[in-house]
Parts: sequence; C-alpha cells; structure tokens
Amino acid sequence: MSDFSRPEGPRIIAVANQKGGVGKTTTAINLAAALVETGLRVLVVDLDPQGNASTGLGIEAGDRGLTTYDLLVDDTPLEEVIYATEIEDLCIIPATVDLSSADIELFANEKRSFLLHDALRQTAMDEYDWDYVLIDCPPSLNLLTVNAMVAAHSVLIPLQSEFFALEGVSQLMLTIREVRQAANPNLRIEGVVLTMFDRRNNLSQQVEQDARENLGELVFKTKIPRNVRVSEAPSFALPVLNYDSNSLGAQAYRALAEELISVHQNVAA
Ligand SMILES: Nc1ncnc2c1ncn2[C@@H]1O[C@H](COP(=O)(O)OP(=O)(O)OP(=O)(O)O)[C@@H](O)[C@H]1O
Ligand SMILES: [Mg+2]
Repeated sequence: MSDFSRPEGPRIIAVANQKGGVGKTTTAINLAAALVETGLRVLVVDLDPQGNASTGLGIEAGDRGLTTYDLLVDDTPLEEVIYATEIEDLCIIPATVDLSSADIELFANEKRSFLLHDALRQTAMDEYDWDYVLIDCPPSLNLLTVNAMVAAHSVLIPLQSEFFALEGVSQLMLTIREVRQAANPNLRIEGVVLTMFDRRNNLSQQVEQDARENLGELVFKTKIPRNVRVSEAPSFALPVLNYDSNSLGAQAYRALAEELISVHQNVAA
C-alpha cells in the first residue's frame, strides 16, 4: 500500500463495530501488542468513554490526566496526552468518561469530524515514528466513531461469532461509504475478524460461513478463539500476549498481526 511506509507516517486503523461487546477493545489491545512483538511501534487511541483500552493497558482511571477528550476538545498537544505503557514501544492516549460529552460539546464546531484526523497529523507525530495507530471506537456510530473513520486509513471490524453477528454490518458499511463520500475517499476496509470463535459450537461455524459468503475476501483467515486467558488479561492490566504468552488467544492475535502485516507488504510490493 502506497501509504504504508515510515516516511509517510503510520498506518491508522479504526477498530469499529457499533455492536457492543464484540471484541473491539480486546482486538485493539492485543493486535497492538502482537505488532509490537514483531518489532513495530504502536500507538493505541482510546476513543471510548468507557476507557476499557486504557484500563486494559494499565493506565488506571486516577492516573489519566490529559486524555483523548483534551486532544479533541481543547487542542491539547499530542505529546501531553501520550502515555507509555508497561510494554516498550506501545503507547496509549487514554480516555475517561469525560469523552461522552464530546458529541454535544463539538456539535457547533464545523471541523467536528476532522478533530482526530488533524490531531494525528500534527508534526509532533513524526518524532514518535509509529508504524501503526489503532483507534478503539465506542459501540456506536456517533461523532467519535466518525472522527476515527475520518482519521484512519482503514477500518478493522471485529465480528463476534454469535447469533445476529452480521446484523448491523450493513449499517456500518453504509457509514463507511458516507465517510468516504464526505471526508475520506481513500478509507479502506482493513478486514473483518471473527472473535470469540468456538470451534465446537455449530453457531460459530455458521457465522463464519455466513461471513465468508457475504463478505468474501474481507474476512481475515485468522479467527480469534474464545479463550479464558484473553478475558482474564485486562484485570492484570496486560495484553494476553504478555499475560500468558502461549495461550491460544495470544497465538491467534500473533497470527492476525502477521496476516495484517503481510497484506500490506504484498500490496506495497
Ligand atoms: N477471544 C476472547 N475470548 C474470551 N473472552 C473474550 C474474547 N474477546 C473478548 N472477550 C471478552 O468479551 C467481552 C467484550 O470484549 P470487548 O470489551 O473487547 O468488546 P468491545 O467490542 O470493545 O465492547 P464495547 O462495545 O463495550 O466497547 C470482554 O469481557 C472481553 O474480555
Ligand atoms: Mg470496547
């Protein structure tokens, strides 16, 4: 991909699905950790007032001084909102519940959809030399998610291997199309990743079949299994790769990172 090379800045990926609890945050955190393991530098942007990505990467609520809210609403410089994590080369811009009022506060701002886009293109960005920026979106197609899609090169869609999984995907695709038309013509779909996959469950198999039939090549080959270590890791404030490196969840996120990187290398070649 022509826009994936260091001199032109990081590849920015919005992790989005307006459905709640499908694995957005889990994917943002663990894919980030898996990319870092391959030697890349990654920034996670927590764009969800729930702040789950911040908690999952060890930034406790009380330690979140300046956050995504300040970056978007108050034009706070990038370097004041970036926090290091326990993991070298993995940083985060954390979020707090303050962010939930951004929608209303920004309503009259005519640049309201471009705030994250502009923030992530400050010249200070160059010094950090990120390879990837992963944006963890809230479970809604609101102004925050639109900001992520306007800022991003692509959207990565986690799809829970559960009943009604595909419901809502057409609405999400429609929003992506609208963002392309209005603001970001080059926005791509990075891919759809099946999460919480249970190979012993017929329903998971059915969801996979439906997804591959309907979305074809957009669906990543890698599936993320349902794995208790994945769900335990956030309470230890660590990605599963660092909490239990050999777990099936950690292995799956490594495979996803490899698949993601290889797609970009192939397109660039
Ligand atoms: N592969 C997995 N195996 C087991 N549990 C998982 C897995 N992926 C996610 N979970 C659990 O499912 C729940 C929802 O995941 P997560 O918070 O990542 O979803 P989300 O889409 O970010 O939710 P929200 O829409 O509220 O932001 C969490 O409790 C998480 O620990
Ligand atoms: Mg989340």
